[in-house]
Amino acid sequence: MTMPVAAQTAASPAGQPIVRPATPADDAFVEELQATAFGPGRFARTAFRVRERFPIDPSLSLIAEVDGTPCGSVWMTPISVGGVRGYLLGPLATHPNFRKRGAGKLLAREVSRLALERGEGAFVLLVGDQDYYCPLGWKATPPGNIRFPGPVDPGRVLMLAGDENLVTAVKGAIAGFDAGA
Ligand SMILES: CC(C)(COP(=O)(O)OP(=O)(O)OC[C@H]1O[C@@H](n2cnc3c(N)ncnc32)[C@H](O)[C@@H]1OP(=O)(O)O)[C@@H](O)C(=O)NCCC(=O)NCCS
Repeated sequence: MTMPVAAQTAASPAGQPIVRPATPADDAFVEELQATAFGPGRFARTAFRVRERFPIDPSLSLIAEVDGTPCGSVWMTPISVGGVRGYLLGPLATHPNFRKRGAGKLLAREVSRLALERGEGAFVLLVGDQDYYCPLGWKATPPGNIRFPGPVDPGRVLMLAGDENLVTAVKGAIAGFDAGA
C-alpha cells in the first residue's frame, strides 16, 4: 500500500523537505514563488498557454515545506493527447533559499505518484531538463509527436508512464482531459 501524503508529512526529519496538499492559504506564496522562479516571462511560456486553456487540478497541487516553512510548489493539469488521458506537470519551483535539499524531486515524484494512482490518466508529461527529470523516470518523447500550443524545444518534451510504450506511442495535439478515451 502506498503512503498518503499526510502520513509522510508526520515522519519528516528536521531540515528535510516534506510535501502536503496545497490549500487556498498557500495561494500568495505560490504566486510569489512562481514570479521569483520564472520571472515576468512566465506568462509567455508554452506550458503556461496549456494551463490557460485547461484548468489545473487543485487536488494535485502540492506544497513542499521545511520545518513548517513552505518552500516549493507543483501543479498538475489534466490533459489528453491523441485520445490518451494524462497530466502536464508544472510549474515546479523551489524557493532559492531552499534549493538542493530534494524538495523539487520530492514534489515531482509525489505529484506524479498521486496522479497516476488514480488510474484515470496514463502519463505525466512535462517540458524540462533531461538531466533533472530522466533520473526520476521521465523519458524523451520522439520530436514532434506531441504538439503544444506554441514553440517548445523538442528535446525537453519528457514523459513518465507506467506503460513505457506510451512514450513513443502517444501522438497528437494537447487537448482537454475530457477529449481522452
Ligand atoms: C529546478 C528546481 C525546481 C530544483 O529544485 P530543488 O528543490 O533544488 O531540486 P532538488 O533539491 O530535488 O535537486 C537538486 C539537484 O538538481 C540539480 N538541478 C537543478 N536544476 C537542474 C536542471 N535544470 N538540470 C539538471 N540538474 C538540475 C541541482 O544542481 C541539484 O544537484 P545536486 O543534488 O547534485 O546538488 C529549482 O532549481 C527551481 O525552482 N528552478 C527555477 C524554476 C525551474 O527551472 N523549474 C523547473 C522547470 S521544468
